[in-house]
Amino acid sequence: MKKIITLALAALLAMGTLAMASCSKEETKTDDGAAAEKREKIVVYTNAEFAPFEYVADGKVVGIDIDICQKIADELGCEMEIVNTDFDSIIASINSGKGDIGASGFTINDERKEQVNFSIPYYTTTQYIIIPKGSEIKGVEDLAGKNVAVQIGTTGDLIITDMNLEGITITRLNNAYDGGLGLGTKYDAVVIDEPTAKNIAAVNGFDTVKVEGLETEEYGLAINKADADILAAADKVIAAMIEDGSLAESVKYHTDASAVTE
Ligand code: ARG
Repeated sequence: MKKIITLALAALLAMGTLAMASCSKEETKTDDGAAAEKREKIVVYTNAEFAPFEYVADGKVVGIDIDICQKIADELGCEMEIVNTDFDSIIASINSGKGDIGASGFTINDERKEQVNFSIPYYTTTQYIIIPKGSEIKGVEDLAGKNVAVQIGTTGDLIITDMNLEGITITRLNNAYDGGLGLGTKYDAVVIDEPTAKNIAAVNGFDTVKVEGLETEEYGLAINKADADILAAADKVIAAMIEDGSLAESVKYHTDASAVTE
């Protein structure tokens, strides 16, 4: 008798372990009998060196993109896990299914659309140049012959590279903040999206100039092409956050909170 109970317990335990191992996506039956997926978590890939969209505060990754993703997790009734990594690796990680959402201030463009789906846009911006106070640089033409830092793989990198300005030296860094650290010594200017340019300028006491003549860029969340449920939830959440003003609130909150100088 004892033996049978022990065996039954062992079997139960094994089943429990199996159920836990299958985690992440779990098959459940809907009313009409069709199999539907219930997620336990969404894995969000980001590069938290892009305030106010993603940055680290008190050891935690926070920002506008994180606020949006938390609401998507709430909408799907699951947890959110954040992976903070290099910007130029994120689209490939979403494409391969390592991560579910790339939330990293991604500008929606055709090249990236070949690899991932994009949510509806949630922010519109353009490229800015960060310069030391008193710099002679007044616009993008003045970057000819200068040392300019960009974040590798960003639209700022692509745009400045394509301009082919005479005598320009472009240094591709892992993040724009390192460009800020070397501004005035190693670099004459740093080119990055307006909100981050303004943040770096505010924190370090630099100036910014707009890159004139560019089309505006729209940010979207990059989502694995197989994850139709996440895409639908993302679009629903973003539309609601635009409508009820919570997106604008998040932008205001993180713009102020990330511009604090220590
Ligand atoms: N919007 C630009 C792009 O899509 C820059 C994004 C950089 N984001 C980041 N988290 N570092 O290329």
